[in-house]
Amino acid sequence: MKPGILVARAVFPEVLGRLAQHFEVDANQLDESWSPEQFSARLQGKWGVFTMAGERIDAPLLAACPDLKICANMAVGYNNFDLNAMTAAGVLATNTPDVLTETTADFGFALLMATARRISESEHFLRSGRWKKWRYDMFAGADIHGSTLGILGMGRIGQGIARRGALGFGMKVIYHNRSRLDAATEAQCQARYVGKEELLQSADHLVLVLPYSPASHHVIGGAELVLMKPTATLVNIARGGIVDDVALAAALAAGRIAAAGLDVFEGEPAVHADLMKLHNVVLTPHIASASVPTRLAMANLAADNLIAFRTEGRALTPLNAPAARSV
Ligand code: GLV
Repeated sequence: MKPGILVARAVFPEVLGRLAQHFEVDANQLDESWSPEQFSARLQGKWGVFTMAGERIDAPLLAACPDLKICANMAVGYNNFDLNAMTAAGVLATNTPDVLTETTADFGFALLMATARRISESEHFLRSGRWKKWRYDMFAGADIHGSTLGILGMGRIGQGIARRGALGFGMKVIYHNRSRLDAATEAQCQARYVGKEELLQSADHLVLVLPYSPASHHVIGGAELVLMKPTATLVNIARGGIVDDVALAAALAAGRIAAAGLDVFEGEPAVHADLMKLHNVVLTPHIASASVPTRLAMANLAADNLIAFRTEGRALTPLNAPAARSV
């Protein structure tokens, strides 16, 4: 008999087709929003679950779902997983690294450019019929080429952004990370390691690409924003909660920094009302990895993890190594 899995959100039909060759699939193709209780109820008796980054897997859920053996996240970020609780419960966790690196770095750069060059703001102006004449300082923003690009979090995506900045736009790249990169990788990215304070003070454009954890909660708040240049732009493609959105909105409103580009938000899909009111912020709905080929590759990798774990007893991109769960 095929084991049962839950696909917690809508996904490509061809990926569901692949999963159906190996599993009894309960798929939420209507993309209904479930409460944690509904999610737990749908997981009863399931061997595995295919999640997006929104479904929380924690100790109470694991205790309520004793048959669950694997949670395959269709995302590189996995702050929706309590990894310690999963390991303790003998549940394997997987994510989708690598396949989204370049697409996400493309988007980070696009958001940086849209923000610094005021593309969204000027389009809204045009569409609202307010463009009556040209002016010398109309939507004048900050330059990208030749400026200093700061990157906080220098994993695979951060390195992709660094390469784009250094090689494509002649930017000086500085970065801060928990651990310094080896010399060869630094040379390839043409990036210089600096302390966090120097990063904040020197960057013309600061891009956040670090994973969310309790340690990175509000890593950019009021105290950090005052260190930044008043002409600086801030881009967050990492996770909501890394930036204190209220402090950021206040800094943008007061002109303490010039502009921000945000793809992720605290408590998304809700976006703080103070941010919504501002013109100097570009807001996008968590789409940094959203190219068709990349989203398909992510879905296939999540499916491959479930299939490989079922057929070979190992996943392709595991996040933990739990002892087998006792049933
Ligand atoms: C998207 O945010 C991801 O973590 O893949």
